[in-house]
Amino acid sequence: MARRKKIYEGKAKVLYEGPEPGTFVQYFKDDATAFNAEKKDVIEGKGVLNNRLSEFFMIGLENIGVPTHFLKRLNMREQLIRQVEIIPLEVIVRNYAAGTMSKRLGLEEGTRLPRPIVEFCYKDDSLGDPLVAEEHIIAFNWATQQDLDDMVALALRVNDFMSGLMYGVGIKLVDFKIEIGRLWDNDFQRLVVADEISPDSCRLWDIETGQKLDKDVFRRDLGSLADAYTEVARRLGVLPSNATHMPKPTLIN
Ligand code: TYD
Repeated sequence: MARRKKIYEGKAKVLYEGPEPGTFVQYFKDDATAFNAEKKDVIEGKGVLNNRLSEFFMIGLENIGVPTHFLKRLNMREQLIRQVEIIPLEVIVRNYAAGTMSKRLGLEEGTRLPRPIVEFCYKDDSLGDPLVAEEHIIAFNWATQQDLDDMVALALRVNDFMSGLMYGVGIKLVDFKIEIGRLWDNDFQRLVVADEISPDSCRLWDIETGQKLDKDVFRRDLGSLADAYTEVARRLGVLPSNATHMPKPTLIN
């Protein structure tokens, strides 16, 4: 088979040229990294789960009128997406203090924030994705003021959608990260949710027990990451309720 042209390889995904101009194929790997790739492992089945979960969230967002780059899932590990120009910012929305916000501001993890807080980090691994202010974003021309207003509105809509969805299955959405891309329609620009939405880029805690069901399980060595992601998928109905992760194929006589 002719190899597709690889466009880009990141820590958890690979982008290939798509079948038509303006499209890419996004492949989800099993690789897990944390602390700017200082901690690494391969978690069997993670890519399959994230492909399914990201599809589920992106379709849901489209259905409530939030534009995304998603076109369709192609197979277990790949989805067809629109080619967008990624804005070089990680857009983080926080509902409860955790992670770097807890460290920076001395807030106990799990403290309810007075309202959702949107933060921006500049996407640069060599700098460790530093937190930046809107002033930096405008001054360095990473985005315009209008883009920023649109990004905040988009991020808050994603937050409401994801918080409600998770609440319905007994999960608290503590925080999450999205990336946003520019899609050009001749001269008209639209901002759309891009990259992925999965437990790799969210903090998800069981409402009753506080059990972590996200990448902190890997970052903090709290057990099986595949089991945690399977539980999220199972609760959302993305996997059959009796599925354990990735059953091996069996021979049918
Ligand atoms: P944050 O607490 O700032 O960083 P860390 O995960 O290193 O403690 O992260 C807030 C949320 O955003 C969390 O759910 C993880 C996610 N996130 C990413 O997925 N990738 C990133 O590069 C960053 C900065 C955050």
